[in-house]
Order: sequence, then structure tokens, then C-alpha cells
Amino acid sequence: MKVYILKEKDINKRVAGRFIRLINKKENPVIGLATGSTPEGVYNELIKAFKKGIVSFKNTISFNLDEYLDLKDEKYSYRSFMNEKLINHIDIKQSFMPTDNYDDLIKAKGGIDIQLLGIGRDGHIAFNEPGTDFDSLTHIANIAEMTRIDNQRFFENGDKVPERAITMGLKTIMHSKRIILIAFGKNKADAVAKMINGPIHKSCPASILQKHPHVEIFIDEDAASLL
Ligand code: PGA
Repeated sequence: MKVYILKEKDINKRVAGRFIRLINKKENPVIGLATGSTPEGVYNELIKAFKKGIVSFKNTISFNLDEYLDLKDEKYSYRSFMNEKLINHIDIKQSFMPTDNYDDLIKAKGGIDIQLLGIGRDGHIAFNEPGTDFDSLTHIANIAEMTRIDNQRFFENGDKVPERAITMGLKTIMHSKRIILIAFGKNKADAVAKMINGPIHKSCPASILQKHPHVEIFIDEDAASLL
């Protein structure tokens, strides 16, 4: 694992730069995307670069990590989030959310070149909550209480975070050729420390990333405060 401790603004630029270099170099790039507050700055940098003509996504395919199930209103879906924050603003060829046979679909498209990740306070990546099998492929998962509380801020008028989601599994994520994980803020420091220095254990799903040959962790000073 390579760990970079930088300011949020620089992290967004550096990470966007990695995606832009891949997309400008590879004929049919496949990128893995994430929702949440953390990746928004990277998406803004990608949109800026597209508008300036520095990058085109016309040959790029994206796969998102996860999607809620049982939503009362589509406006809360990760599809809506992604459309609003990135997809509607660029010329991407195709953008997928998890479905049945997602792992086969990813494989058929050549596999994910770079997967972007955030991390939950409980060490989850995508909706792989503590206790998830390291061998898991895309599956339906129960969302942990802590995560439901953390995500409640995106819901309005008493609407509640669903209890279930469809998510790439830990093995799906580990199959990516490269992984970039971003974390900001003190509330992520404990999970970040366990991911980097802790034992590889199901109690911290992100700890499995220690076994991946090409992982970069970009964190601000607050998220790095327990290292
Ligand atoms: P956040 O979520 O970016 O909104 O903090 C990260 C995650 O739960 O993976």
C-alpha cells in the first residue's frame, strides 16, 4: 500500500490526474466509481478537465460500486447521485450500476483498470460491512446501523436510508487492476489506521486491501491522525 497524506484539494487533483492519464492512454478504459461525499471533488476535477478538452470519456466505461435496494424515491438512488455529480456532465460511453451477473459483465468488458473507493467509519468499502466474506462477489447486503446513520444526511422529510443494497463484493473489488482509496476527516481516522496497520480481518473489510498489489491511499492529515 502506498499512503499519501495531502490536503484535500491536492488529493482531488492528483486522483483525477490518475484517471485522466489512464483514459488518455488506454483504448477502452474501464473505471470503477464510488458515491458519497468523498469522491465529489475528484468528479468536479474530471468535469473541469472534460470541459477544457483535456480528456474525453467517449471510449470509457464505468462501473459503480453499489446501489440501494427498496428505495421509496429514485432521487435518493446512487444512479441519480452519479448522474448529477458526474455522468450528465461528461461524454461517457456507458455507465453501469450493479445488477445480476455484475462480475461477469465487468470481466466481459476487460476488468476494472482503476477502482475508486471511500471508506466507512466501520471500515466498510462499498456496502461490504464488517463480517463480509473476503471471497464475496456482487451480492445483496444488509447496511450496518452506523452506515445508515451516516447516510441519513442525504435523505429528506423523514425518509429513511434503506436496509439493503446491492454491492460489489470484496473479491470483485480485489479483482481491480488498481485501487485508489480516499478518506478525509477525523471520523475516518480509526478505520484508516485499522485498514493500514491492523490485522487483515473481517472486522475491518478494508484491511483486505493490504493484499492488493497496487493500492494507493490518499488521506488528509485528520484521517491520518491515528497512524
Ligand atoms: P462518504 O462515504 O464519502 O460519504 O464519507 C464513504 C463510504 O461510506 O464509503
